[in-house]
Amino acid sequence: MFEQGEGIVLSRLPFPLFSELPILNRATARAKVNKVSGRVLLYICRKWIAVFLKPYITEGEYRLMRRLDNQVALVTGGARGIGKEIALALAGLGAKLAVNYNRSAEAANALAEQIKLFGSECLAVQADVSRSDQARGLVGTVVEHYGRVDVLVNNAGITRDKSLKSLTDEDWQSVIHTNLNSVFYTTSAACPTMMEQGYGRIINISSFVGQAGNFGQSNYAASKGGMIAFTKSAALELAKYNITVNAVAPGFTSTEMLAMVPEAIQEKLLAKIPLRRFGEPREIAETVAFLASEGGYITGQQININGGIYM
Ligand SMILES: NC(=O)c1ccc[n+]([C@@H]2O[C@H](COP(=O)([O-])OP(=O)(O)OC[C@H]3O[C@@H](n4cnc5c(N)ncnc54)[C@H](OP(=O)(O)O)[C@@H]3O)[C@@H](O)[C@H]2O)c1
Repeated sequence: MFEQGEGIVLSRLPFPLFSELPILNRATARAKVNKVSGRVLLYICRKWIAVFLKPYITEGEYRLMRRLDNQVALVTGGARGIGKEIALALAGLGAKLAVNYNRSAEAANALAEQIKLFGSECLAVQADVSRSDQARGLVGTVVEHYGRVDVLVNNAGITRDKSLKSLTDEDWQSVIHTNLNSVFYTTSAACPTMMEQGYGRIINISSFVGQAGNFGQSNYAASKGGMIAFTKSAALELAKYNITVNAVAPGFTSTEMLAMVPEAIQEKLLAKIPLRRFGEPREIAETVAFLASEGGYITGQQININGGIYM
């Protein structure tokens, strides 16, 4: 991925109207324009190099360049944060996307347009995955639209942080329903299609908190730990259908979820991370993309991406 000031000198591309825009922070705006332009260029280059080289390279080499061509990927909670980066990474590998959202309709539709601009197909689907009927309906909609589902990323998640003495039944249940029950609903709904295909890649976004525990997060830790246990059991059951099931466990990652944590506490968290920084959503997305495209012999694993906060 091109970063600002790296490789291609995108900052020197002509944006004639740019200086006339009433943008207060021009440096931030320019960085954003450069990032999007970089991604579009990367996608176009990868796609056209693969197309032109096809007659001269082996099938295996072609597959390496267009690794998720003709595959369908569903990302729950894919409109923003980590889910958005995962959707972009999978689309970048050639997958047809289904981006699920619950409340972020505008962001989901904007992302779908962005992915279409890159040349991939993308469907934005509203569903509250904490509800069995909606989560199963979501998978049904995707299979009906595309005729298959190859990659399922269970990313949707929430926090309701409170210490045990003030945690209510509602705080407990909403987190368990959204983070854990949803994984069962979508996975069991996708299984018949994946079994029929003889192919599937299921990737569950857990958390290091599911392994280490955390003060004020007993509900969240239980949901994320449950996800890891579910991942291992499902991996055992589904291996014979060539369906792999893995968990990715991020540490503290720079998204709106982390932004909800008061700044003073963020400072304390930073001090506990050996790499002394929060993770970037892109770093989680790249591991998910690897598991989806190259992880055929990896199953039942939890992959930690946490800056060393839990080893
Ligand atoms: N950020 C971190 O530090 C961190 C660390 C470890 C693990 N994780 C995990 O990574 C995943 C993504 O987190 P994030 O940081 O990107 O969080 P975020 O920015 O708060 O985004 C949460 C996403 O989950 C979706 N979502 C929530 N409830 C939903 C529901 N009932 N049905 C469908 N979608 C729902 C939201 O969709 P809408 O906006 O459409 O409602 C949103 O897209 C979560 O599972 C989280 O637990 C995050």
